[in-house]
Amino acid sequence: MTHAAGARRAARAGHAARVSRAARASRAEAASKRFDRDYYRRYYFDPRTAVGSPRESWARARLIAAFLEHFGVPVRTVLDAGCGVGQLRATLQRHLRRMTYVGLEASEYLCRRYGWTLGRIEDYRSATPFDLVICYDVLQYLDDRTAARALANLARLGRAVLYFSALTQADWRDNCDRRRTDPNVHMRPAEWYRVRLRRRFREIGAGFWIRRGAPLIVWELERGGADARASA
Ligand SMILES: C[S@@+](CC[C@H](N)C(=O)[O-])C[C@H]1O[C@@H](n2cnc3c(N)ncnc32)[C@H](O)[C@@H]1O
Repeated sequence: MTHAAGARRAARAGHAARVSRAARASRAEAASKRFDRDYYRRYYFDPRTAVGSPRESWARARLIAAFLEHFGVPVRTVLDAGCGVGQLRATLQRHLRRMTYVGLEASEYLCRRYGWTLGRIEDYRSATPFDLVICYDVLQYLDDRTAARALANLARLGRAVLYFSALTQADWRDNCDRRRTDPNVHMRPAEWYRVRLRRRFREIGAGFWIRRGAPLIVWELERGGADARASA
């Protein structure tokens, strides 16, 4: 390689890095504006407009804890990726007494208010993978490219169990209460998520995925989705 070609390549790489840093910074700024006090007041704190209830979160946290207990997964570390106001935390802590909980959030407002870790699911790195990763009702806020990166990163961040859901096109059509659900999101078919998750996880059902290679015994009839069909 000549010096000139090397210099051009270095300049191109430097430019690409600057563009991707700028894109990250602008996504972070947009998230901080969107996920502000008013957003959480509307979708979480005001019972007239809230999308879920404390009872639903309590039941969800109990389901997660029961799943882990049933499959004998020892849980010390939990990453709640896009944890919002942290509705699962207290109940999880009651059941998983030794857990260390990391709430990762793109909202500066929530990080100031609750002390969560400020960061983005698609970029976040951890020296050691977490025993349980939760990502609930978040990825519909990300465009296709960023959501695909986030899914790949969830596989990097988790060691054993992923609990995952996102609003899909069919949910919008058939399942959700449209008056209480944020419509300004990227609604995709469920299969879009499944295809990507299956690369690294086995689907169990009810939102649970087990990392391929994790030493957990799953009885054949406990498996759901394509994994169940594959074993037929
Ligand atoms: C609908 S709320 C869901 C919160 C929580 N998981 C729950 O179930 O209550 C979506 C949350 O995702 C966060 N979020 C959006 N994009 C994110 C990203 N790229 N990385 C981390 N958090 C993100 C928002 O700040 C918001 O609090």
